Amino acid sequence: MVIRELSEPHEFAAFSRLEAEIWGANDPTPRALLHVFARHGGVVLGAYDGERLVGISLGFPGLDREGRTYLHSHVLGVTPEYRGRGVGQALKRAQWAHAERLGLPYVGWTYDPLMAPNAWFNLKVLGATVADVLENAYGPLDDAINGTLPTHRFWVCWNPTSRRPDDQGEEATLVIPENVDSLRRRDPDAARRQQEAFFSEIRQRWAAGWRIAGVERDSSRVWYRWVRRSEERGGVDEN
Ligand SMILES: CC(C)(COP(=O)(O)OP(=O)(O)OC[C@H]1O[C@@H](n2cnc3c(N)ncnc32)[C@H](O)[C@@H]1OP(=O)(O)O)[C@@H](O)C(=O)NCCC(=O)NCCS
Repeated sequence: MVIRELSEPHEFAAFSRLEAEIWGANDPTPRALLHVFARHGGVVLGAYDGERLVGISLGFPGLDREGRTYLHSHVLGVTPEYRGRGVGQALKRAQWAHAERLGLPYVGWTYDPLMAPNAWFNLKVLGATVADVLENAYGPLDDAINGTLPTHRFWVCWNPTSRRPDDQGEEATLVIPENVDSLRRRDPDAARRQQEAFFSEIRQRWAAGWRIAGVERDSSRVWYRWVRRSEERGGVDEN
């Protein structure tokens, strides 16, 4: 398996096809934009097994709320039969190498906090940090993964060379519900209620100064580990 930077029209066409397959969406990133990103400071990557494209990622420089330039990662996907073999991590490391070449301090992206495999991949396998909670980040996407649900997201930042923040303080947990995927397919109304209940808990904790310290799992469950440092509790109580 090799990771390559894509630059040719047929490679961008293959990228869009794979993106549409993975997300079951009919509006993958426009090919013209892939050209623009690849030529103007972004990084469009493909993971190849021989001639077959099995994984994709798209990153480009963005400005965060503090006005710092970072590498925004918009797409990361691996074709289903190649998942769990290190392809996602390899694509992410190649994105980080691009960020480092440009002197950028971190790679930032969003993920759905209800997706336990993604939580594990982002927070445990990569060691990214949840830096913000975004309400309906993209509006409803109407694709195979998200359906018509609001797109509530965690905003994560990743710099594999930096130390994780100290997570001493008051602790709590929040278990990610099981069978989120199948409920979304089977019963969209129940999935919407499940999402609202879960996200409302996240919203309240975040507003009260709790932060995500990591994710843990046992044989049947995956849960977020929360921490509230004393100065954050003090700050919230004073207001
Ligand atoms: C999330 C995704 C990019 C991970 O890529 P990957 O190549 O499967 O991941 P890797 O093999 O490098 O890493 C494996 C780790 O990721 C986790 N993982 C996340 N999603 C997984 C999946 N669908 N299948 C297998 N492992 C997955 C595994 O738990 C594993 O950790 P473990 O060995 O400690 O259990 C990929 O599963 C995917 O394309 N998912 C659908 C698209 C998506 O949700 N993209 C958004 C990513 S934020």
